Amino acid sequence: MSIVYLNGEFMPKGEASISVDDRGFLLSDGVYEVTPFYGGVGFCLDRHLVRLERSLRELGILFDTEGLTEVHHRLVAENRLENEIRALVYLQVTRGVAPRTHYFPVEPVRPTVYAFAKPWERPPEDEWSQGFTAITVPDERWLRVDIKTISLLANALAFQAARDAGADDALLVRNGVAIEGAHQNFFAVFDGTLVTHPESNLILPGITRNVVLELAGECGIRVEQRPICVGELFDADELFFTGTTGEVRPCVQVDGESIGSGLPGNVTVALSQAFLNLVQETKEGVAAVG
Ligand code: PDD
Repeated sequence: MSIVYLNGEFMPKGEASISVDDRGFLLSDGVYEVTPFYGGVGFCLDRHLVRLERSLRELGILFDTEGLTEVHHRLVAENRLENEIRALVYLQVTRGVAPRTHYFPVEPVRPTVYAFAKPWERPPEDEWSQGFTAITVPDERWLRVDIKTISLLANALAFQAARDAGADDALLVRNGVAIEGAHQNFFAVFDGTLVTHPESNLILPGITRNVVLELAGECGIRVEQRPICVGELFDADELFFTGTTGEVRPCVQVDGESIGSGLPGNVTVALSQAFLNLVQETKEGVAAVG
């Protein structure tokens, strides 16, 4: 049975329990992070923890994140994931346990901290190289999706709509703009220029998104951060999503219409390779330090 972390203790998952009065359970009053580990090495863990601190601050949840790096590493070790090609640590912090009210607990309560680790797999190369399909779905989320809250119902409904339609991904659309995926950021390539929605309250500031923007700079790819209209999608040469569990994920069809050549394009392939190279360098860097 997997070993999980709950409020300062590591324990078998079956022994972990939380109160029915937890505000995460009753009100979705909490935040989370998902951090990738490659061969037991955390990738951008510091950036994930900085984003977690911001999410906590935005919701006014008082919690000191010191010690969480150690929790991540110990979870990977306890679950024998050091040699897994890909694993992830999910961590959530809720405001804590208190009688249900719409206002915050008057007396300070201890936040609930829960984390687990598990392996995950990238799609096989032959699937990736064919690309993935998406449908557009109205973005019905709230207006602060820059905060990584555990309130993911609109994301889940959108992703389910895509699955029900036989598509691989959902592309969320608000006011005629292709915003991001249900759990991934979104990029388009027009005439060699990489375009993605700017950081705002309407997108999650994805860690993978930022890494890919940095890599694009290093590869000499022109970058523009601006909204992408739905009407423009079918003029794009390439589309792709980015995210912790999708890495760089080519999107070759939207609402049944082919994009570009109908296969992952050069920019997508180059950025995916640059991303995988960076992962490899990060692993080797940690191995060299000892
Ligand atoms: N999802 N946009 C949304 C709405 C997300 O939920 C995520 C991540 C991203 C990509 O962010 P990052 O590159 O930091 O993983 C973009 C996580 C993985 C999840 O909910 O499982």
